[in-house]
Amino acid sequence: MTMHVGILTGGGDCPGLNAVIRAVVRKGELYHGDSFVGFLNGWRGVIDAATRPLDVEACRGILPRGGTILGTSRTNPYKVEGGVAAAKATLHRLNVDALIVIGGEDTLGVANKLAAENVCVVGVPKTIDNDLSATEVTFGFDTAVNIATEAIDRLHTTAESHHRVMVVEVMGRHAGWIATHAGIAGGAAEILIPEEAFDIEGVATRIRARHDRGSWSSIIVVAEGAVPLAGQMATVSGDVDAFGHVRLGGIANWVAEQVEARTGYETRVTILGHVQRGGTPTAYDRVLATRFGVAAIDAVHDGAFGQMVALQAAHIIRVPLADAVTELKTVDPQLYHGVAEVFFG
Ligand code: F6P
Repeated sequence: MTMHVGILTGGGDCPGLNAVIRAVVRKGELYHGDSFVGFLNGWRGVIDAATRPLDVEACRGILPRGGTILGTSRTNPYKVEGGVAAAKATLHRLNVDALIVIGGEDTLGVANKLAAENVCVVGVPKTIDNDLSATEVTFGFDTAVNIATEAIDRLHTTAESHHRVMVVEVMGRHAGWIATHAGIAGGAAEILIPEEAFDIEGVATRIRARHDRGSWSSIIVVAEGAVPLAGQMATVSGDVDAFGHVRLGGIANWVAEQVEARTGYETRVTILGHVQRGGTPTAYDRVLATRFGVAAIDAVHDGAFGQMVALQAAHIIRVPLADAVTELKTVDPQLYHGVAEVFFG
């Protein structure tokens, strides 16, 4: 049976979003005879009925392109007056049989609630943070880790030349996956993550001991959501988005000040920020995004609504959306304490 399928991308953008869109449209149009409508700017486009046409032709050339051709936003229909009713009305008016929602915890959380109200949705997991449950990995994460690792590699040589400590801040609001992976891959002397409140005195002591042993320089990787013991989360503003998340950024400055004051070593800060989210996806992310896209349109045709496609044990499977959004997937303590920590100091 051919279907008319809507697609949206919501939340922070992420390398690989366009690869998912392309895969959904390609498999749907060629194998199922489907037609598509792209909703602009996440849930905002469903509320406002802001759309663009989508077919195989419209998807030419987008596989390696970062960002999303559909645009994105952090709009939450449940926080907009009349938002849910408007979104349902749009889907009805445009004869949308099913909606493929590509997003992280927040965007898919909305999809999960709508599924409970009998809206036909299928989810695709996206976030550079890799903090969605029920899937071993999300697309975008590999790209972010590679960007951060390359930055750390570059910082090593300048740090060595000047005998400095370099503090590198990476994204990761509640989960330190990027920090842990990039820190391991980049040979960091310390990795600070939101899951483990850190003792700044311990960090400074280990850095001092490391330099006393003859090291010329040190790299400290800190996730933006990391917090010191008995401290407050550093924020750049009190602003919160529609899902209640505060804007982060700046903990690296505090860590650098403290380390310099306690060790006397010259210390510099690099905040990678949105560089980690921009640009072309790695080959791994393109393949994963493509597999997710193909699986999502197949799920639509199997009537697997309220489900999300996921990667488990190298296979793409389906899981209930609720399993993905109920709890965040935080860094495995065995990876952090059993592997990353071996290289601290
Ligand atoms: O959720 C992905 C993410 O990149 C987080 O790591 C980061 O805290 C946040 O988005 C930044 O959001 P914005 O692009 O709205 O500043």
